Amino acid sequence: MLSKTLKLLGVCAGIVYLLAGCRQYTTPQAVPENLTCEYLKDPLGIDVIKPRLSWISSSQTRGFMQHAYRILVSSSINKLNKDAGDIWDSGKIESDSSINIRYNGMPLQSGGRYFWKVKLWNNTGEESGWSSVATWSVGLLDTSDWKGKWIGNDEPMPGDNVNAVYTRVSARYLRKDFASLKKVKAATAYLCGLGLSELYINGKKIGDAVLSPALAEYPKRAWYTTYDVTNDIKQGRNAFGILLGNGRFVGVRVKPVPVYYDNNFITKLTHYGMPKAIGQIAIEYTDGTHQTIYTDTDWKLTNQGPIITNNEFDGEEYDATKELTGWSEAGYNDKEWQNARHVKPGALQLSAQMTPPIKVMNKVKPIAVFERAPGVFIFDMGQNMVGWVNLKVQGKRGQKVAMRFAEVLKPDSNLNLAPIRTAKVTDAYTLKGIGIESWQPRFVYHGFRYVEVRGYPGKPSLDAITGMVVHDALEEGGTFVTSNAVINKIFNNAKWGIKGNYRSIPTDCPQRDERQGWLGDRATGSRGESYLFNNAPLYAKWLRDINDAQTDSGSIPDVAPSYWQLNTDNITWPAAYIIIANMLYEQFGNREPLIQHYASMNKWMDFIRNKRMTNYIIEFDQYGDWCVPPDDPSIIMSKDPKRKSDGAVLSTAYYYHLCGIMERFARLNNNMKDAGEYANLQANIKKAYNARFFDIKRNAYTNNTATTNGLSLFFGLTPGKSRQAVFNNMVNTTMRDFNGHVSTGLIGVQFLMRTLTHMGRPDVAYKLATNKDYPGWGYMVENGATTIWELWNGNTADPFMNSGNHVMLLGDLVIWYFEDLAGIKPDANTPGFKKIIMKPTPVADLTFVKASHKSPYGWIRSEWEIKNGSFTWNITVPANTTAKIYVPAKSEEDVYEGSGRASKADGVKLLGAEGGRVVYEVGAGSYKFSAVIKK
Ligand code: BGC
Repeated sequence: MLSKTLKLLGVCAGIVYLLAGCRQYTTPQAVPENLTCEYLKDPLGIDVIKPRLSWISSSQTRGFMQHAYRILVSSSINKLNKDAGDIWDSGKIESDSSINIRYNGMPLQSGGRYFWKVKLWNNTGEESGWSSVATWSVGLLDTSDWKGKWIGNDEPMPGDNVNAVYTRVSARYLRKDFASLKKVKAATAYLCGLGLSELYINGKKIGDAVLSPALAEYPKRAWYTTYDVTNDIKQGRNAFGILLGNGRFVGVRVKPVPVYYDNNFITKLTHYGMPKAIGQIAIEYTDGTHQTIYTDTDWKLTNQGPIITNNEFDGEEYDATKELTGWSEAGYNDKEWQNARHVKPGALQLSAQMTPPIKVMNKVKPIAVFERAPGVFIFDMGQNMVGWVNLKVQGKRGQKVAMRFAEVLKPDSNLNLAPIRTAKVTDAYTLKGIGIESWQPRFVYHGFRYVEVRGYPGKPSLDAITGMVVHDALEEGGTFVTSNAVINKIFNNAKWGIKGNYRSIPTDCPQRDERQGWLGDRATGSRGESYLFNNAPLYAKWLRDINDAQTDSGSIPDVAPSYWQLNTDNITWPAAYIIIANMLYEQFGNREPLIQHYASMNKWMDFIRNKRMTNYIIEFDQYGDWCVPPDDPSIIMSKDPKRKSDGAVLSTAYYYHLCGIMERFARLNNNMKDAGEYANLQANIKKAYNARFFDIKRNAYTNNTATTNGLSLFFGLTPGKSRQAVFNNMVNTTMRDFNGHVSTGLIGVQFLMRTLTHMGRPDVAYKLATNKDYPGWGYMVENGATTIWELWNGNTADPFMNSGNHVMLLGDLVIWYFEDLAGIKPDANTPGFKKIIMKPTPVADLTFVKASHKSPYGWIRSEWEIKNGSFTWNITVPANTTAKIYVPAKSEEDVYEGSGRASKADGVKLLGAEGGRVVYEVGAGSYKFSAVIKK
């Protein structure tokens, strides 16, 4: 019996973090192929004392529901193998919860390593075997656990220039020799090197993270990373090395750079200090003794290495003739190096990085190369990508190859660098002249499709460069394909854009002198993205950055971390703080952020109310419906009053919407007093809003834009009896005034597709989604886009603010793809996909949609097809969940599952009929529904 049930109920176990992450499964089975990331499988160095554990049951049995579980946590794998939960034995807990189970064992120790497994009982009383073993380790929980000192040199070093517009600061090399006389049992390294760092032991780089650690709100906080270096330290002589780059810690633009546009725009980024590091390596020997090697003034420092400068906007210069061969190996002669100094701490608080590191995730081969002018070659990568290139070259010592990067070419086939603004985007490599040399930068990245190469000896062939695609190593969690080629291409472009802008924060763009975490861009987009990537750890981390950037008064900046200091105290951008916490709750079942950040969110709501609200109306708005499609193809911001939405509508509607989310958060925090106050406030705002902005005769909000009407409908501001009439106006504006095209900017587009669809006009949404002419996502595709543009008219607009790789205009498009076209959506009241709503939307000429999404409970699949008047729908509902499914059919009699009537099928329960669909509830398992739709 036991072996039978073992097969029946395979279990994947995983760990989630208390603060910074939601679901981070640790077993290989749970992670799709090549994106497996050690960090996710067995997280090292978490700094939470009550982590949350999650697992996925791989049972395929129809209706499988967990009835009970038992977790064992041990201090060693041997103990766990003997089923000894010396750290925690939960006992058999009767519960169907399988995500976010809070650890409740012995206090976890700083630096401790833990092993765990879980077994389940199902709803028919069967007991599974134990899951495979998962593990986690704890970082340094207390400040006093840090023996290391911040070291480096707070002064600029020879060759540096921080007093210029284009700062130039070389990489720092730190090293220390050390003899290990005994046999190592275990060794763990903790490192925070700012801005960026790489750890080396005995000549080898530890781990495959790049651009590490994650960006942070300096100097309040910095993230440290933890490495298991047990196998890297040998008995005998060893050497440690730390390589330091600048990242965003050293000001990329310390002096203001005036860029003249409408309002004399000025770029200036905060400068926090010179590169520095703190770290330690804790070694446990087989004889039970311990030793800690840590950063101090006995480490040696030089900046006279090959990385002459590294600046994220301007590029990296590497002179291979200056290589410090063997610098991180034992016995290296460092006599010329200076002693590292104690320096000002890089951050007041060190916290464990609990979001996956950035890695090289993919490689791209160029599709073409041509010689634009003698010695000047242009490579076409065929894809607008983010990262850098690996250069392969053979030539004379001292020869310099320079590469510049751009997203587009000018008509004369030169790089078009105007949209890059002041960023110099130049990587340069000076050859050492020994055989074939291969090089790639370490501390910079670019957004580009085209690479200009100068100084290459001879004519480079296509394989002279390889594109290295770099982004956060988030687990992939979605597939989507339809019968419509335009939709498929847009989806592909969206995916490239989304991942390219994951750089331990969600950035606005990857290429020009900006690359910031603009809050407004991701409010709704983050939900769409969650269908493609497990972005929970990233967004939970970003909420902490946002929280760190909040001022004492309660103000939240528009950009976080606040490298650009912008506290305009508008509503629509900082709103992302609350909207994203809600996304994490609904999509991942993660309550932690709404608990952790509740007080800060509340503080911001109060702050804004006091500062901006009069008689329940907020007049102030900073950005408007940012980037509506202009009538004049050459301009950035439309001046057409018909396209502009009243800022007071946007601010007030948003604040109303946020009150609703805050009411929910208050309830989830058991704070009924606040919940009541938010509900009251909402009611008052609604009254004032409609009195002020709703024109009852015209059934329109202010000037009747798709945004003002759409927002009012989506947020539930419109009085019930007027909803249809307002919606008709929204459709009319779209169809009549804008000829069936999108007319919204960043704000309106976040609610556009869902409002149109949910209120009965999916055909209009479909038209917007598939248009090939201006404006629309299909227009971008038609004009060669391989990502998503910042502007609807990106191919013709002024280059001043015109990035080819922004994701803000996706709005709710990706949500619509998954939730409406494919029909995969969490039930907001039973979040995290514990209950799934599957309601696909067959529309217009769409004949099939195939999608899948990896929810916290496992893969959900929805694949429908219309053929010969019948609708066939293959679905998979993961173990331990249920789904409410909506089959498009006139009557229950028309619906089959497998070869029999659906209502009689195993695991299928008929609930009724609703809006042209027959509704069922199903448990876990795979089903094949079919229905006659045309008779
Ligand atoms: C950024 C946007 C941002 C906007 C707000 C732009 O420069 O790229 O994504 O939301 O500014 O002002």
